[in-house]
Amino acid sequence: MNEVALKPTSSPLQGALEVPGDKSISHRAVMLGSLAKGKTSITNFLTGEDCSRTIDAFRQFGISIEQDGTTVTIESNGPEDFQEPSEPIYFGNSGTTARLMLGVLAGLPFFTAVYGDSSLVMRPMDRVTGPLKKMGAQLDGRSGGIYLPMAIRGGALKGINYTMPVKSAQVKSAVLLGGLFADGTTRVIEESATRNHSENMLRAFGADITETNGEIRITNKNALTGMNVHVPGDISSAAFFMTAAAIVPDSELTLKNVGLNHSRSGIIDVLKQMGASISISNVQTIGGERQGDVSVVYQKLTGTIIDGDIIPRLIDELPIIALAATQAEGTTVIRDARELRVKETDRIKATTDGLANLGANIEPTEDGMVITGGASLTGGKAEAYNDHRIAMMLAIASLVTNDDVTIDDISSINISYPGFFQDLQTVTNSA
Ligand code: S3P
Repeated sequence: MNEVALKPTSSPLQGALEVPGDKSISHRAVMLGSLAKGKTSITNFLTGEDCSRTIDAFRQFGISIEQDGTTVTIESNGPEDFQEPSEPIYFGNSGTTARLMLGVLAGLPFFTAVYGDSSLVMRPMDRVTGPLKKMGAQLDGRSGGIYLPMAIRGGALKGINYTMPVKSAQVKSAVLLGGLFADGTTRVIEESATRNHSENMLRAFGADITETNGEIRITNKNALTGMNVHVPGDISSAAFFMTAAAIVPDSELTLKNVGLNHSRSGIIDVLKQMGASISISNVQTIGGERQGDVSVVYQKLTGTIIDGDIIPRLIDELPIIALAATQAEGTTVIRDARELRVKETDRIKATTDGLANLGANIEPTEDGMVITGGASLTGGKAEAYNDHRIAMMLAIASLVTNDDVTIDDISSINISYPGFFQDLQTVTNSA
């Protein structure tokens, strides 16, 4: 346990900050770099624990992966040379490693056993094993095949047409990765757009992939070729600081080189809709991924409604958006976000319990929450439920409370943002 008591500090956030590399893109860069023939160099790689799980997984196939801080170098001859792992593969807390790797393992012609930590073994995997079984892979796991630990015998896949029953980029990506190994065409049809980093990067590595009107098609025609990948800053990490600057009076903060892919940038739209003053500059597109600097100047917020197609574009930001809503005049309603119930923890419960303990007027609903804002929070004790995004949201809350915020355990923050507290100190002390 790593409990902290954070003193209330209403010091404004000032200056500029560069948050670590994007978690989703870092995972995918290791996966595609390992599946590609030749050398792949990744810069600004996220050194958090989740992405290390993906590196370790590919090392178990015999791939040479060197890491020097945020630079990762992969040398591979492609999947034909992968060796059957002699030990089970550990995915830790990482849902992205687990779900995307199941797509890869389904395509590899050997046996693998996989497992995860106490949170990951409670997260549903049947959403990916369902379509992968239709493609011809053999997968089985706990509780009739729903949960890890799981055993996979892959190979001899056939393309399928798959209409997504859940709005999940992890599911889409698992099917597309299976499609890289499958005979024939694999089609994935999605009703609402989810993050498209897999599609962007598969295209950049040379895969035969096309997309029209929400239908993505992939074949096994082209082998992937190694390349250089530069990972943009993670908008999901920047979100904590954008929100902090939007709710602490007198703040004026710039987050530099943040990923601005449209399928991820819903938080900017919502904060603007709530009245935040946000401007974007220095925009460029590298490897199909838009990035730029995001500047936030404090301005009073008002409540809003968040539902429908924007939800997948900000799914990981809903806990911190809920905190913003506690500081906004009026009521904020979040709907259509049932997926929050199956994240690292039940994030509807964790967010509403946590903020209620700090004095917020917040109620859970089946698929979201209702927040009545406009008052400062008292402070108090709250649980992070071993979830990195809940722990960081509670830490940011201490910038707007009257008393201490005590968080039971902050060690989960290493999953996605190892330098979070140093960065928080830098921007709150530079005033
Ligand atoms: C991710 C997709 C999202 C997100 C997760 C990362 C990805 O999950 O919550 O943190 O990298 O594809 P779902 O696909 O389950 O919505």
